[in-house]
Amino acid sequence: MISNSKFGKNVLIFDHEDQMLKFMVEQWEDISREGIDRRGCFTVGLSGGRTPIIFYQKLAEWDNKSSWERTQVFLVDERFVSFDDKDSNYKMLKETLLGKIPIPQENIHPIPTGKGSLEDSAREYEKGLVRFFEVSKGQYPTFNLILLGIGEDGHTASLFPGSKALSERRRLTAAVVLDEMRHDRITVTLPVINHAEHVIFFVRGENKAPVLKKILAGEDPSLPASMVQPRSGNLLFVIDREASSQLSG
Ligand code: 6PG
Repeated sequence: MISNSKFGKNVLIFDHEDQMLKFMVEQWEDISREGIDRRGCFTVGLSGGRTPIIFYQKLAEWDNKSSWERTQVFLVDERFVSFDDKDSNYKMLKETLLGKIPIPQENIHPIPTGKGSLEDSAREYEKGLVRFFEVSKGQYPTFNLILLGIGEDGHTASLFPGSKALSERRRLTAAVVLDEMRHDRITVTLPVINHAEHVIFFVRGENKAPVLKKILAGEDPSLPASMVQPRSGNLLFVIDREASSQLSG
C-alpha cells in the first residue's frame, strides 16, 4: 500500500485486492464504532455501480450483530426503476450485503421508485432524510460515512458533468433526467455529501485512471467528483494500482 498526499488529498493505492478490502472493512468498523459511541447509531450513504460490489460482499462477512442493529443504511443515488430491475442499486445492495446481515428492515432506507414521478421520488426521499436526521430548513444531514464511486466522465453519485443538480444548494435530493440506457435517477446533492464526517471514494480499474488523474491533480474543477470537498469531514481516496496508473510520483 502506498500513501500519497502529493496532491493535498489523502490517497491510498493498493497492489492487492484483499489488502484493499481488508482496509475498507477496517475503515467501516472504525467509523461505525465512532458513530455508535457518540450518537448511538452509525449512518452511512452507499453508492451503486459495479466497483463496490466486492467490498459489500466482503463486508457481509462482518459478524457483529449489535453494530448492524445500530447501522442505518441510506443510498446516495438510485436509478428510477423498480427494485427488482437489474439496474436497481437497492437490488444490488440487497443481494451483496443487506440480505446477508442481521440488520433490521427499518434501518434500511431505499430511495422510493415505486409510485409517482421522478420528482415525487426525489421529494419523498428528501422527506425521509429530513425526518430521520431531524434537520430544519437550511440544514443538512450529517452522515458518519458516505461511500462514493467515480464514473469515467467524472460523475459521482448521480451528479453528472454539466447537470443543473450540481448547483443545487437548498434541496437534499435532486431528480436527474438522463437517457434511457443510464436511466433517470434520484441523487443526494453536493451539500449533503460535503456535510458528511467521512467521505471515501473507492475507485478500481484502468478505465478510471485518466479521470482520477484529473480529479486528484485538480485539473478540472468542473468535474462533479472534484466538487466533493467536505467542509470539515475527512476525504479519502482508496484506489487500486490500475486506477492509479496515470498518477505521477
Ligand atoms: C451508480 C453510482 C455511480 C457510480 C459510478 C461508478 O449508481 O452508478 O452511484 O456514481 O459510483 O458510476 O460506477 P462503476 O462502479 O460501475 O464504475
